[in-house]
Amino acid sequence: MITIKSAREIEKMAASGAVLAGVHKGLRDIIKPGISSWEIERFANRYIAEHGATPSEKGFEGYKYATCVSVNDEVAHAIPRKELILKNGDIVKVDMTVNLDGFESDSCWSYAVGEVSDDVKHLMDVTKKALYLGIDQATVGNRIGDIGHAIQDFVENKNHMGDVRELIGHGIQPTMHEQPNVPHYGEAGHGLRLREGMTITIEPMVNLGTWEISSKMTPDDSWEYYVSADGSLSAQYEHTLVITKDGPKILTSQDPDFDAKYLL
Ligand code: MF3
Ligand code: CO
Ligand code: CO
Repeated sequence: MITIKSAREIEKMAASGAVLAGVHKGLRDIIKPGISSWEIERFANRYIAEHGATPSEKGFEGYKYATCVSVNDEVAHAIPRKELILKNGDIVKVDMTVNLDGFESDSCWSYAVGEVSDDVKHLMDVTKKALYLGIDQATVGNRIGDIGHAIQDFVENKNHMGDVRELIGHGIQPTMHEQPNVPHYGEAGHGLRLREGMTITIEPMVNLGTWEISSKMTPDDSWEYYVSADGSLSAQYEHTLVITKDGPKILTSQDPDFDAKYLL
């Protein structure tokens, strides 16, 4: 269902988003060579609980964790693991959804582990810029296809990287995944018209190689996650945002300076 949020609901989602952003900010000091990906899960659980919130991914379709932690060629939905030790040069994506007082927010960030190669820096840079180019299209009267088109043109035509298609952004609130679907590819001027008060996520995943992905199962066969089909490195950034008359407003911002024009 597509719901239009009131000012009060947007405030509540922003409060949820502030907790989520706090997790990401905290992770900047935690993610370094030698930690296991489980340390990320542990920190997120603690931080979310200390702030009176709950992790919505836990229990979602049988998922057991607060975070998805996907490393290198893992594109999305990989599980945090005690035996996975992060190494210098890795890229790690941490995706989580937080619920505060019944209000959801969803944000993924990519982190460089120690010193990464110029290729990884470039991949991260392109993916983050793709997210913000998509956000810039999330204005009243634009269409869903304008968001996807901006991302696809930048990733594929300008940067010759793989723009993942199988996993997409989404409406959010009252649950984690609502209508509309928000693909990261598409045709400008096509699709649903965006309206004031709609809350959506935009969450491009970009591979250094092909856009195609394959699915894998966890060793206990209980959960499906995704890797790039050619083994190439992958990055992702995701924000939750609200469409307003004054433009798109990011509800999961970690950086008031960088995001100045996107704040409520
Ligand atoms: N946070 C993810 C998203 O961006 C959802 C992950 S699904 C889960 O939509 F089951 F792993 F939680
Ligand atoms: Co997410
Ligand atoms: Co999402």
